[in-house]
Formats: sequence, structure tokens, C-alpha cells
Amino acid sequence: MAGDVVEQQLNGSAFVRHLGAVTGDGRAGYAALADRVRTLLGDGRLAVGTRVPSERELAVALGIGRGTVAAAYEDLRGSGHLARRRGSGTWTALPTDPTSGPVTPFAPIGAPGPSGSTPGVIDLAHAAPAAPAEVVALAGQEALAALPDHLVGPGYDLLGLPALRTVIADRLTAQGLATAPDEVMVTAGSQHAHALVVRALARPGDRILLEQPTYPNAIDLVRHASARPVPMALDRDALGRTRWDVAAFAAALRESAPALAYLVPDHHNPTGAVMDPETRAAVVAASRRHGVPLVVDDCLRDLWLDEPVPPPLGAWATVPGEAPVLTLGSLSKTVWGGIRIGWLRGPRAVLRRVATSRASDDIASPVLEQLVALALLGRVDAILPERRTTMAARRDHLLGALARLLPEWSAPRPTGGLSLWVDLAAPRSSVLVEAAARHGLHLAAGPRFGTGGAFEGFLRVPYTHPVDVLDDAVARLAAAWETVDAGAPAMLSPVV
Ligand SMILES: Cc1ncc(COP(=O)(O)O)c(C=O)c1O
Repeated sequence: MAGDVVEQQLNGSAFVRHLGAVTGDGRAGYAALADRVRTLLGDGRLAVGTRVPSERELAVALGIGRGTVAAAYEDLRGSGHLARRRGSGTWTALPTDPTSGPVTPFAPIGAPGPSGSTPGVIDLAHAAPAAPAEVVALAGQEALAALPDHLVGPGYDLLGLPALRTVIADRLTAQGLATAPDEVMVTAGSQHAHALVVRALARPGDRILLEQPTYPNAIDLVRHASARPVPMALDRDALGRTRWDVAAFAAALRESAPALAYLVPDHHNPTGAVMDPETRAAVVAASRRHGVPLVVDDCLRDLWLDEPVPPPLGAWATVPGEAPVLTLGSLSKTVWGGIRIGWLRGPRAVLRRVATSRASDDIASPVLEQLVALALLGRVDAILPERRTTMAARRDHLLGALARLLPEWSAPRPTGGLSLWVDLAAPRSSVLVEAAARHGLHLAAGPRFGTGGAFEGFLRVPYTHPVDVLDDAVARLAAAWETVDAGAPAMLSPVV
């Protein structure tokens, strides 16, 4: 294992706690066991680099035949999910070649994978739309034409091209968050901006507050920074719509004293919820009272589908010297994730700290991509109306298709964002995702969006694909659901 990844060793009973209720001998038993290990590995609940128990020890712990465990381990070795090391046992791994072995829907969100789609396989594990190809091509041409002007200098600008920072600042100002260009740093997407903030402002062992559920890569980021996630449960009203509980938020700040609090107030991922203006004011007031900086991920805010969202949460932070609000954004959802340009907006002093810690491993954003982003930002308001209409139609189509084929499920109609947060009315998300994979449908299971194995009863279903693909996906989902025994006892919550 490379670097500072902590390796761990699991004995038979600890491994069984991870596995939950996987039982049964013979062919079905070994396939189920291998599938379960792949699921846990892929969605992050079982760490890569974990030493697994011997076949005999696991067979005893599970109460199944040793031959079944041996066959499962063999299957997992074949698919690249287990690796033997001479003299030191068998360890969990992820396949290095994503096209080898069985197709798995459980890859960490954004994990390395083929850039195109696998024929016949529908990817609903990512909630990100395809690019508006013509607009991106035009922006590319414009960027290439502008490049020679930049070739005369060294090309390194830690904070980003001044022209791009100005356009980003103007855009934030127009949204209601008054911003000067020197309050903006260009990054490789909003996740990168988040990682830079965590690295600069949190130390190993610090606590970081996260909504529960939340964006899975944010959970992984906290863990990989050796910080400790403080999950703050979101509330649901009688109609199943997600709400922020300000009292719970303030209590979590008071009791846990986190170094940072990460929020997605506009089209929260995965629920699509929008924080109302009163809650924004109360959240900023609480963060100020407790001196906790807020990291506000606004990468989905432009994707409102029914009505515009309130000004960015940062606009409520008006008192100088208060706990800073750091706003993240990108072009990934409005235009295309492959652009890899985003931004961090915050007070100059915080940007200086972030820039200082960034410089040691990532000196500047690529100039050509920044020029593409600059050209795209000039066109984004022209792209968005059509994108909103398309996504709203797909959202409504998906809701209709689910209501017809899976009437026992329920999902509130989000007013924006890119996915539904579906209540399965049974704790079957992980097994359903496994079954869906066998039907060529990739999804991220509910527990991927929380800590401690929560959300086994939920599934995020993006509506980013065209309606015919969504119809096909829902048909596959319904077929997979038929194979999942919703009446059986719940799987044990995995230890995370
Ligand atoms: C809430 C949230 N934050 C960050 C990201 C990653 O965005 P980017 O491509 O800008 O890094 C996503 C993508 O799905 C997201 O939903």
C-alpha cells in the first residue's frame, strides 16, 4: 500500500460484521459472498488494503462450508478485489483495469473508470449530465485562439488567470454574493476546492461537520484527511421533503466544536433540498456564535428547475471578522464535469492560507482549461434555460416511470439538482444495487451517502439521461427489485 494509507487486519467476526447477513453454501452462497465484498469495497465501507481472515476462519465465523469461502475468494481474486501477498495473507484491492472483471456499480463516485460508457450498461452512479458538445467545441476554439497571448509568460498563477477570476467574481456578485476578483481562487473543480480548504484549515483528528446524508466524496475527503466526520442528520417533513434543523446544527457546533462545517444548501446532494432564507440566516448566525467556518458547496445551485434559489448562503455573512464562509463552485453541473475548472470564494486572508498550503503540490491550474472556462462562463447563461427545461422534463419523466413500475417506492419532487432521493420502504439499497448491476445498471447505494451504514432504505436515482434511457433504467431497476426479497430481515448495519 502506498503512502499513509492505514492498513488494517480483520479477524473472522469483524469481517462478518462488515458483511452483514450473507449466508448460504454452494454456488449461490459463494456468488453472494463475493458480490457483497465487492459492494463494500466499492462504496468505501470496507477499506482497500484490509487483510481478510483465512478461509477457515471466515467459514467458521459465517457458519458456512470452507469450500464456499474458498470459491468466493477465488472469484474475488479473479476480479481483482483480493490480492495475495507472499507470506502475509490476502488483502482487499480494487481492480487496476476497470474494464477487467465483472462490471461493478460500486466504484467510489468519480473513481477511475472508462471515460466512455460501456455498451449496454446504464451509468446512474454519477449524477452529472453530458456536455453541450457544440458550445464546448466553440469554447475550445476560442481558448486555443487566446492561448498565444499567454505563452509569453511562465503560465503559473497560483490563484488563477485574473480575467477568469474577474468573471467568476462578477457572476457571484450578480447572484447576490458581492465578490472581488482577489476573493476568488481558481481550482480543479469544487471537490478540489473543498480538499484545499480541508487541508489548509483542518488538522488530523479535527472534527468536520457533514450533513447526513451528504455527497459521498465529501465524506471520503474528511476521512482521508484523518479528520473525523460529525454527521448532522437532516430532517424530513410529512411529505418526505428534506429540511435543515437549525437547533440540531447549533447543538452539533456547540458540542463537537468542529474545525469546519460542510453544507450543500442549494440542491443538496442527494436530496435536492434547498435551504430557505430564514434557515440561511440562522445557520450563519450559529456558525458565527461558535466560531466555525462554513464550507458552502454551491456547484449545483444554478440547476434550479422550477424557481430561482435564494442568494448564496455566503451572502448572509455580512459581519466583518465573523467565522468565514467559503463558497465552492464549478462548471461541472452547468456545463460539463470534464472541464475540471471550479473555484473557491472566501476572505483574502483565508485564500492566502489556502494558497500557501496548495503550492507544495499543485502550483497552478492549467491555462488552456482556464481559457475554456472563461469562454464557457460567457455562454453559460445562454446554455442554462435549455438545460433546465431538459432536466425538469427528465425529472418528471423519471418520477412517472417509477410511480408506474415501482409504486411502493416514494420520492419527493426536487425543485432542482440532478437526482431523486428515493425511499425504498425497505432496507434493501445495497442488495438492490448489486442486483441492478446484474441487469447492467450502475447505481450508488444509499449508505454511500452517510456514515455508519445509514440510508440502507434509500437510493439516489439521477435523471441526467434522456427519457428513453431512463425508461430502460427503471425497467431494469424493477426487474432487479423483483429479485430482492424486501420482506427478509434487514441486513446488519456495516461497521464504518
Ligand atoms: C455536492 C457536490 N460537490 C462536489 C461535486 C464535484 O464537483 P466538481 O466536478 O466541481 O469537483 C459534486 C458532483 O457530483 C457534487 O454533487
